[in-house]
Parts: sequence; structure tokens; C-alpha cells
Amino acid sequence: MAAIAAASRIIPSAASLSSSSSSLSFFASRSPLKCLPLRSSHRVSRLFVTQRRPEVRVLSSGYGTVSASKSFASDPDQLKSAREDIKELLKAKFCHPILIRLGWHDAGTYNKNIEEWPRRGGANGSLRFEVELKHAANAGLVNALKLLQPIKDKYSHVTYADLFQLASATAVEEAGGPKIPMKYGRVDVSAPEQCPEEGRLPDAGPPSPADHLRQVFYRMGLNDKEIVALSGAHTLGRSRPDRSGWGKPETKYTKDGPGAPGGQSWTAQWLKFDNSYFKDIKEKRDEDLLVLPTDAALFEDPSFKVYAEKYAEDQEAFFSDYAQAHAKLSNLGAKFDPPEGIVIDGSPKPQGEKFEAAKYSSGKKELSEAMKQKIRAEYEAVSGSPDKPSKSNYFLNIMILIAVLALLTYLFGN
Ligand code: HEM
Repeated sequence: MAAIAAASRIIPSAASLSSSSSSLSFFASRSPLKCLPLRSSHRVSRLFVTQRRPEVRVLSSGYGTVSASKSFASDPDQLKSAREDIKELLKAKFCHPILIRLGWHDAGTYNKNIEEWPRRGGANGSLRFEVELKHAANAGLVNALKLLQPIKDKYSHVTYADLFQLASATAVEEAGGPKIPMKYGRVDVSAPEQCPEEGRLPDAGPPSPADHLRQVFYRMGLNDKEIVALSGAHTLGRSRPDRSGWGKPETKYTKDGPGAPGGQSWTAQWLKFDNSYFKDIKEKRDEDLLVLPTDAALFEDPSFKVYAEKYAEDQEAFFSDYAQAHAKLSNLGAKFDPPEGIVIDGSPKPQGEKFEAAKYSSGKKELSEAMKQKIRAEYEAVSGSPDKPSKSNYFLNIMILIAVLALLTYLFGN
């Protein structure tokens, strides 16, 4: 008994050692002064002195469960309040489409062939920096950032990366779209040098649109079904010649707004999230509705067409596939703190990858990206990595071994 008590005294201290080292690296990786390009110096100093609220963090690892006091990349209560403010913003400004585009363009730079964060790109808040906002594909998105900045200023414990994805998912839902199974806790990059190079997002009019879409979206780890489902986001919004170069300056559907008038929409009711995009780009009957070469490819390419036809017929199927694909897009390249992410009230639990024994029984099959990320997250939760096993876990094991030996010596000694 004495030995067990001794062991239990040792183990918590080992756990807090491991957690404090991860806290240190967490704070080291966040530099508030560097990561707030649109913030006034007064606001920066306010943020700098604000205390982060301690929370209990429960980490599950192969070695058991440890708990320690630590705050996450974003604060769950602030995420919920920010979501309410985003809803108000949407009601006032009808800015659903541009907020969705902001989230997509932050995440869509992800390159699954690069392991290192943040060089791999993705949902890391890098799109707030001028250097990335100036990429041709991002023309006009500075307006989305300006709309969100007051919310960011109000909720300093919500990262930009989370705010962009929260705004995008909320905009889909508020426009009548499906509930997206989101999670939060994305860590922000801290400097413009960490922005991805230009050219990772798709072109609307490349020579072979279907090949181009596959090249870009496969690089993100997305498949044909996800390409088609996500393209369905064009059920909302407009294209403006002065931004992307595509579309008419105005049409009968856009000349009176709501919001800033002008541009050409893909659908007549371009603030309502439904499956009309697929119906409209299939029929191509209305000169006032836009069909980009990459939109048209969805009904021309045999593999894309299967899904495009299905979504034109069946809105429920579109909503279900869209919700999954959107959640996946929003997680691309993100580093989560806590590693398993934060689910805020009202959001369904994120769907983890189903474990199929057959899938992992053959040595030939590579683990999927999602499964690799999950394993990596588990290791990172205990300050280790799959390539470099955690020292603290060895330390724990040695402590347990010593405790057991002490117990045996005590028992046999008597
Ligand atoms: C498939 C490849 C894609 C291409 C080539 C493409 C291209 C474009 C272009 C050219 C515009 C017009 C921008 C402007 O002039 O302001 C636009 C707008 C938009 N895109 Fe895409 N996009 C693609 C995929 C996506 C995806 C995956 C999403 C979201 C999941 C998305 C959401 C939007 C939204 C909501 C708008 C309207 C923005 C507004 O009204 O301000 N797009 N896209």
C-alpha cells in the first residue's frame, strides 16, 4: 500500500512536468505582438496583459489519462459568444458569401505532401497578413477581414484561424445550409513569413478545368465527391469583374443588393443555401447566372457528373456530403490545441474516422492522413511525436517500475 501511495505521488508530478513543457512551447509559439496586423497598439497592450483562463485539460494517451491546468488556443465560451456576434453581423451586412470564401481561402492552401506546420499551409490564420491577402486569388477578401476584426478585438482568446472557420460555418448554417460538424482550437501562425507562397488556390478558367481541379484539390487530400460538394458553396454569392475578373458588373439578381450591389451570381437567390447551384449550372438557361469553366466541368467530367447529377436531384444528399466536406476543409493543415479540438455547444461531435480492421491489416496500405493526424495528436498531447517518442512517458514508466520494485522489496522484506 505504501508503495502504491508513493507511486501515485510521483506520477502526478511527472504528469505536470510533461504538461508544463507543452504549455511553455504553446506560449512560445504565440507572439501576440507579431500576429495582429490590423490591431492598434493600445489593443495590443490590452491583449498582452490579459490573463488566459485556466481550464482542466484531460489528455488521453497510450499510457493512461493525465490532467493538468492549461488554456487552449481558443476559449470555448468566447467561441460561443463570437458565434452570436457573427450571426448579428450576418443579419446586418448580408456578408455570408464573403465570409465563407475567407474560410475556404485560409484552409485551401494546404499541401498534404508537406508535413511541417505551418509550411504545409491550411487553416492557420495566415490569410490575415497583407502579403497573402495580396495574392490575386484573394482579391476583395480584405473586406471580409475588416468585417471580422471588431469581433476578433472583442474576443482576444479566439484565434484568427478559428474565427475564419467559425464565421464560414456560421454563414452556411445561417443561410439555410446544413449544420457543419465543426471543431475549434486552431493555432495561429504568428508572422507573415509563415504565409504560403502564391498559387495554391484554384483558377476558374484553366485549360483543362477538371484536371486542374483534381490537381489542386487532391493536393489538399480531397476527393472527387468533396470537390463537387464543396463547389456547391457557389449557391451563395457573386463574382465581381473588378475582383476576380469573372462575371458581369451587375445582373437583375444583384443590382439592388442586398449588401453592396453588383456582380454576377450563380443562382437567383444567392443568399439562400440550397442545391439550386447544381440545377442552374446544369441547365445554363439564364444569361444572368454565372457558370465558370470549373463549374461547367462538374457536369462534363464523368466522375464529377455522378455527384453533380445526384446533388441537383437530391438536396438532402448534397447537404449531408457538403457538411462533411466543409468540416474536413476547415481542418486542413490546422494544428489543434487541444489536439482533439474543441466542440462548442450545439455542434455535433466531429466524426472521427471509422476504424476498419481490414483497412489496417495489410502491410501494403498506407495509413490515411486523418488517421496519421489522430496518432500524431495523441503523441503531441503527451509532448512526444511519432518519430521521437516522448521522454516524459519513459520517465513515467521508469517511475512506475521503481514503485513496483519498491513494493515487492517491501513485501518480500517483511
Ligand atoms: C472549385 C474551385 C473554385 C473556383 C475556381 C472558385 C472561384 C471563385 C471565383 C472566381 C469567385 C468570384 C470572386 C469574386 O470575384 O469576388 C468565387 C466566389 C466564391 N467562392 Fe469560389 N471557387 C472555387 C471553390 C470554392 C469553394 C470550395 C468554396 C467554399 C467551400 C467557394 C466559395 C465561394 C463563395 C461563397 C464565393 C462568393 C464570394 C462573394 O460573394 O463575395 N468556392 N469563387
